[in-house]
Amino acid sequence: MLQPTILAIESSCDDTSAAIIRGGKILANVVATQAVHEKYGGVVPELASRAHQQNIIPVVEQAFHTANIAKSELAAVAFTRGPGLLGALLVGTSFAKSLALGLDIPLIEVNHMQAHILAHFIDEPKPSFPFLCLTVSGGHTQLVLVKDHLDMEIIGQTTDDAVGEAFDKSAKLLGLPYPGGPMLDKLAATGNPDRFQFPIVNLLGYDFSFSGIKTAIMYFLKEQTQQDPEFITKNLADLCASIQQALIKTLFKKLIPAAKDLNVKEIAIAGGVSANSGLRKALQEQGEKLGWNVYIPAFQYCTDNAGMIAMAAHFKYLKGEFSDQYASPEPRLKF
Ligand code: KG4
Ligand code: ZN
Repeated sequence: MLQPTILAIESSCDDTSAAIIRGGKILANVVATQAVHEKYGGVVPELASRAHQQNIIPVVEQAFHTANIAKSELAAVAFTRGPGLLGALLVGTSFAKSLALGLDIPLIEVNHMQAHILAHFIDEPKPSFPFLCLTVSGGHTQLVLVKDHLDMEIIGQTTDDAVGEAFDKSAKLLGLPYPGGPMLDKLAATGNPDRFQFPIVNLLGYDFSFSGIKTAIMYFLKEQTQQDPEFITKNLADLCASIQQALIKTLFKKLIPAAKDLNVKEIAIAGGVSANSGLRKALQEQGEKLGWNVYIPAFQYCTDNAGMIAMAAHFKYLKGEFSDQYASPEPRLKF
């Protein structure tokens, strides 16, 4: 059995991360988050690229230090090719290509969304194939049938906003600081989820839509604050809990029938929004009710991190799936 040591780089959005994996075990997973976007209420692509450039070398050095290995021990260098922000991806891609060229070792490109799913193979328990994964992040919402480590089929996805975007935009409407999703989650814990009703959109098939709920929340808040300017402050926890419940219900409207139709009982969640405590709890509850085996990633592997890129790279290395120096970032990379 091959025990390759691989350095992986993640730079698709606003986290600069480097991880080292050996024989499928993560030895280091260093993440530098970029505070620079806070005052703008969202990720500013150009600032993200610049921050990646500043962070990448210290983050990689830290990963080597934590893993206690030398560069000469590397068997390959992996990087996120997409999807993501072009300028941000360029930093990681160029760095990985240069290092692979300098060390004369293979280069491995990784699809960020596949990597979110493959994060389930870092720790125990690991799902068995085929499993259904609800991948929920700031840019994507996908229902994926995972047939093998590198054989995945998207069976449903959002037709407009991602659910993470819906969390962040709702939080912004409530006046919460960026990134709003985690803050909304925290406040929701003390609120009443049944206090306010927001629309739960149910499209045909397994596709999702989140733009309607965002607009409904916007108009509702506008109307209420015209009558009482203190409306949001007075009802903040209940608003958060009600919004969170509506977003989670929208996800389950597709996850439950998809699992039933495909006759799959191995169900996973992945991506940044899988850190949401309401979603984690709802999945546990549904799992018990419907006899599912549920897989919920550890917090450190929910949001963007190079550990998941390293895990994906490990499987690609074993299959001999390498890239060459012509590899370039692809912001809309599909699988
Ligand atoms: O996967 P990720 O780190 O980056 C992308 O690939 O997009 O996901 C980031 C998204 C953001 O929208 C963020 O607000 C959301 O995940 N998120 C959460 C929570 N933690 C992160 N949303 C709701 N509740 C959370 N606890
Ligand atoms: Zn992500």
